[in-house]
Amino acid sequence: MDLYCVMGNPVAHSRSPWIHARFAELTGQTLAYGRRQIALDGFADGIASFRADPEGTARGCNVTVPFKFDAGAVAQHVSPRAALAQAVNTLSFRDDGVHGDNTDGAGLVNDIQRNAGVAIAGREVLLIGAGGAAAGVIGPLLDAGARRIVLANRTLAKAVALVRRHAALALAHGAVIEAHELHTVPGDFDIVVNATASSLAGDAVPVAAGVLRPGALAVDMMYGPAAAAFMDWARAHGAVPRDGLGMLVEQAAESFAIWRGVRPPSAQVLAELRAQLEG
Ligand code: ATR
Repeated sequence: MDLYCVMGNPVAHSRSPWIHARFAELTGQTLAYGRRQIALDGFADGIASFRADPEGTARGCNVTVPFKFDAGAVAQHVSPRAALAQAVNTLSFRDDGVHGDNTDGAGLVNDIQRNAGVAIAGREVLLIGAGGAAAGVIGPLLDAGARRIVLANRTLAKAVALVRRHAALALAHGAVIEAHELHTVPGDFDIVVNATASSLAGDAVPVAAGVLRPGALAVDMMYGPAAAAFMDWARAHGAVPRDGLGMLVEQAAESFAIWRGVRPPSAQVLAELRAQLEG
């Protein structure tokens, strides 16, 4: 049996096992996908123990908080997008070694373009936050043709560092990338993405509503109660709110395609998962 899993801490509430099991069912693939809670200082041991599992052959795993940096260190081959993000969420165990990739940004881009039906090419994007979640999506947003990306963060220096890291890619695409403080964001945007944990902390949305162009798409990377405050704010100010459930399913679909060479019907699985969570 080909084995996969999600590794994290905490990982008990991860939807990934359900999503990948459904992908496997719908594509006729035979595999088992579990979840492994890993000690905070034990990522390499966690990988070794998974690879020694007698139930089958470990082929790959997803990596979530707080191990996306550690995952980069165990990979012998890191994809360009994971190197730019400085984070790995997908490991593949192949004959020529461990491959690390990052599918979070492709997940966001695919959700925005395919599921929400909003083209990114030529658009102006505001990304709120400059932590690991934000870092993973900037390269893919640039590759999708965003014309301008503004990073706004409570700690300006972190946004500035991300702008520097992505400056060459932005230049190659003829795009503009800038960093600002939360309360000095200039102008308004077609797409606004919340990559902060502000909703979790119960705080108000940290930017002024003027950043939303009428009909803008406003995406929170979280879903469920953690996304509610941002979505209510977006709706109240004439934007189209969207939670992070689609990004979650699409990043999983991208990982599944890397491992199995087959693209699963992600829109169907997203609809099923949403019905399940809302039912
Ligand atoms: P993640 O991997 O989820 O991105 P992280 O790397 O800890 O987690 O980053 C959290 C992000 O949320 C950061 O941009 C953080 O801002 P700082 O860089 O200033 O710490 C942002 N954040 C967290 N709580 C916030 C709040 N209450 N208001 C505004 N931004 C907040």
